[in-house]
Amino acid sequence: MSDRKILVTSALPYANGPIHLGHLVEYIQTDIWVRFQKMRGHQCFYVCADDTHGTPIMLRADREGITPEQLIADVEQQHRADFDAFGVAFDHYHSTHSAENQALSAMVYTRLRDAGHISSRSITQAYDPVKNMFLPDRFIKGECPKCGAADQYGDNCEACGATYSPMELKNAVSAVSGEKPIEKDSVHYFFNLAHFAEMLGEWTKAGHLQPEVSNKMAEWLENGLQEWDISRDAPYFGFEIPDAPGKFFYVWMDAPIGYMASFKALCEKSGLSFDEFWQTDSKTELYHFIGKDIIYFHALFWPAMLSGAQLRTPDAIFAHGFLTVNGEKMSKSRGTFIKARTYLDHLNPEYLRYYFAAKLNAGVDDLDLNFDDFSQRVNSDLVGKVVNIASRCSGFIHKRFDGKLASINAEPALFEQFVTAESVIADLYESREYGKAMREIMALADKANQYIDDKKPWLMAKEEGQDQALHEVCTVALNLFRLLVAYLRPVLPELAQNAEAFLNIPAQVWPHQVPALLDHTINAFIPLMTRVEADKIAAIIDASKENLEPTASVTATTQAPSAVSYEPVAEAIEIDDFVKIDLRVARVIKAQNVEGAEKLLQLTVDLGFATRNIFAGIKSAYSAEQLENRLIVVVANLKPRKMRFGVSEGMALAAGPGGQDIWLLSPDSGAQPGMRIK
Ligand code: MSP
Ligand code: ZN
Repeated sequence: MSDRKILVTSALPYANGPIHLGHLVEYIQTDIWVRFQKMRGHQCFYVCADDTHGTPIMLRADREGITPEQLIADVEQQHRADFDAFGVAFDHYHSTHSAENQALSAMVYTRLRDAGHISSRSITQAYDPVKNMFLPDRFIKGECPKCGAADQYGDNCEACGATYSPMELKNAVSAVSGEKPIEKDSVHYFFNLAHFAEMLGEWTKAGHLQPEVSNKMAEWLENGLQEWDISRDAPYFGFEIPDAPGKFFYVWMDAPIGYMASFKALCEKSGLSFDEFWQTDSKTELYHFIGKDIIYFHALFWPAMLSGAQLRTPDAIFAHGFLTVNGEKMSKSRGTFIKARTYLDHLNPEYLRYYFAAKLNAGVDDLDLNFDDFSQRVNSDLVGKVVNIASRCSGFIHKRFDGKLASINAEPALFEQFVTAESVIADLYESREYGKAMREIMALADKANQYIDDKKPWLMAKEEGQDQALHEVCTVALNLFRLLVAYLRPVLPELAQNAEAFLNIPAQVWPHQVPALLDHTINAFIPLMTRVEADKIAAIIDASKENLEPTASVTATTQAPSAVSYEPVAEAIEIDDFVKIDLRVARVIKAQNVEGAEKLLQLTVDLGFATRNIFAGIKSAYSAEQLENRLIVVVANLKPRKMRFGVSEGMALAAGPGGQDIWLLSPDSGAQPGMRIK
């Protein structure tokens, strides 16, 4: 085993929100890998930091009436406490708003500029004339230029999916001041990514990326590399660009440099050599664990920045997928957007570490936290298989043998099997195939339990003359348990520590040709893990539900009255789904019979902001004349559907059993077309 020097990072969490279970996929994945490397005896350093700069953080501090410095200090305390509680053990945790990061960002920028990789020119952008600031796309709201939906962000419409530039929004307003933005010019600084096209073409194919990521990069590279805008105008919470007063580094410019800054701070406190890790011919290893959403920054910008600044590039970028909960995107209304702290209030963090380990692999696929599966796996694997071995055998050792293990290993072959499994399991950890590693370990646990079931120590304990055999069986079982704990140590550091205290042994390193533990006194058994309780899970989901109750609700059938039924015929939907429905008051300006259609009327309705054509199956209850000029309720954001007689651009809402009994939902008099119904 060669002694490697390894620097590992996880992406720097934004300082504008709490750590949630999605984040933890990454920090737990990285922490397991680092703990494994350390157990192997390598010099491995794990650094991270809060990502503190940018407009959202500046504005949030503003809203809360505190300085950004205060805000990021508070959030950092919370982040650190959450990581700590989940056993995520950084060697150093820093902040991008630090002296080290400012100096390193300036250094990288200056080197890039001096090598001719930075250019500047004036661009036009949306500007808030009241707040006196340029507005990022997310801070401009207005009506979608395509479908007219209100309250859409400056870059895309959530109602129709259209993408556009913020200046195209109708009746655009600044989300900061409510004022209409103006257009304003300003000089920006750009990093010429295209200078690195050749370098990136090679680098992205040289084994530093997972195959699926490498393929994605090839596509991006084929489309040509754009210049990257790395500056923002004041006011901006960040670092001022050295030779450009009033201009600040864009948050994504100094964020990855934050990896270096955190390591720099570690070097200062521990005497490590910074240059040894960052110079171009470094013999050390550098790995970044990230989520798939930030691959572009890490696999293109970052290596280009590093190489342009004459620094070493990473050995690998390890991207992972996104967490879903019970099969769906985490959702506040479903109670599945779960903060780290909420989980910690109810459940043992090591359950989650194990569950994520069991589901993680080296790829970028999303992974699902299914709570039934979660309970079942933790209960059956950890409590039922692993901990059970120790609890089944330790009692006899204490009651019958004074707490001392036997002096011979009665099952050298079985023990050897457990020892030699080391290399397969190590390879799986090294290659981030944790799920497979957990399966190997659980297969060994099954063998250990099988051994105990075959020997039946509980029967031996009742029989005359079986003392020696009983002693040996329990000794074998506890030795197998010890190895299982060593293999699980990167995943379950707390359980491992308690097991080591019980076994009366020092912290285990990675088992490599270890001898059996014989003639050795153990301590009283410490309960190592209890079962997951279902009510705790319910409590977490409950505590995570944000109150998004609508102010009123409309019960409606579709336009086909024959489909009306008093049984719930469709599957239950969440409030999230319901609020997607844009219900509007509309005035029927024209109603016509549809030739060849018995039940349909063709309505032309005025929505205030648009006129729509809607087919409604209500002819059995209304004549065309009866409807003209009436106010009705329509679903305004239903995608246009091609029907047999034409395109229907919405849906009229009605209720009733059908036939003559179809009651159109008519708003109160005084309502105006276009009014939103909530
Ligand atoms: N601040 C940037 C990273 C800068 S790194 C120089 C950022 N922050 S983040 O807080 O949004 O995300 C931090 C990490 O958590 C990212 O790698 C991101 O992919 C990951 N995750 C955030 N939500 C996640 C899930 N729901 N599932 C899995 N990982 C998730 O991005
Ligand atoms: Zn739209």
